[in-house]
Amino acid sequence: MGKIISCNNQKGGSGKTATSVNIAKGLADEGFKTLLVDLDLQGNTSSKFREDFEEIDGIVEAIQGKADIEKVIYGTDFENLYIMPSKLEWLDCLEEMAREDYLMEEQEKTNTSVMRIRKLLDPIKDEYDVIILDNNPSYKTILKNCVYAADLIIVPVNIDRNAIKGVDYTIRYISKVIKEAEEDIKPGFMILITKTTRTKVSRECVELIRRSFPGIVFDTTIANQIAPAEKQTFYDDYFMIDNPETRVGKDYKSLVLEIRKEMEL
Ligand SMILES: Nc1ncnc2c1ncn2[C@@H]1O[C@H](COP(=O)(O)OP(=O)(O)OP(=O)(O)O)[C@@H](O)[C@H]1O
Ligand SMILES: [Mg+2]
Repeated sequence: MGKIISCNNQKGGSGKTATSVNIAKGLADEGFKTLLVDLDLQGNTSSKFREDFEEIDGIVEAIQGKADIEKVIYGTDFENLYIMPSKLEWLDCLEEMAREDYLMEEQEKTNTSVMRIRKLLDPIKDEYDVIILDNNPSYKTILKNCVYAADLIIVPVNIDRNAIKGVDYTIRYISKVIKEAEEDIKPGFMILITKTTRTKVSRECVELIRRSFPGIVFDTTIANQIAPAEKQTFYDDYFMIDNPETRVGKDYKSLVLEIRKEMEL
């Protein structure tokens, strides 16, 4: 049965895309048939695999019912790795979902708008071993959708002074959605500490996050390494995880192992 992993954090630039792309490549290389779904209108994940992502059908057309879900999944240059692209118009879909969600809450009706992503992926879920969702920085409705759809939610968080505040908000919101859900949903959720350095402040910050969120922080942390990260955005065929000589490459490899253990993959 296909497992769904979602990367969420309302804070921009926390490493959602870097994490989604690298774990997708890592799992695909280990033989898992992997679908990477771009749920971000910026299209950062899509552009890595398809230059023409703004022109082709993707998640926007699928959610609007204009294209079949099977028709908006594309193979990539990499074995076992498939992509469902996004584009700017995803913003319209997000706004519509948020409006629908708001109206439903007002009328205290069964909230079908939170099931949009889950329902969309249902018919293809079992054709893949893993489906990975890379998300927009914000939008509560889509986070709710991910909570309903996912088996595991990864909340990447950068080491900085405000990290704890932001991650606390996301974790509390995820817990609230699970508690108030009308259905029995039990996604796991784990914090991933990203962009760590070898400084004392960075180490102290990691410890503080571990103490504040016991039991839900990955053992693996992701090193801050500008050169490989930059290379990954510039070269379509470069993935940080493929480079075991770098700290960040080793870190992503170790993260994939941890995820496999966590999800029994
Ligand atoms: N381990 C790393 N070391 C150094 N830089 C990194 C690392 N991971 C990601 N970056 C860089 O940090 C920036 C933000 O990363 P990324 O795009 O993954 O965040 P995001 O959470 O997806 O952002 P957004 O919220 O805008 O979608 C990018 O420029 C990326 O190249
Ligand atoms: Mg991103």
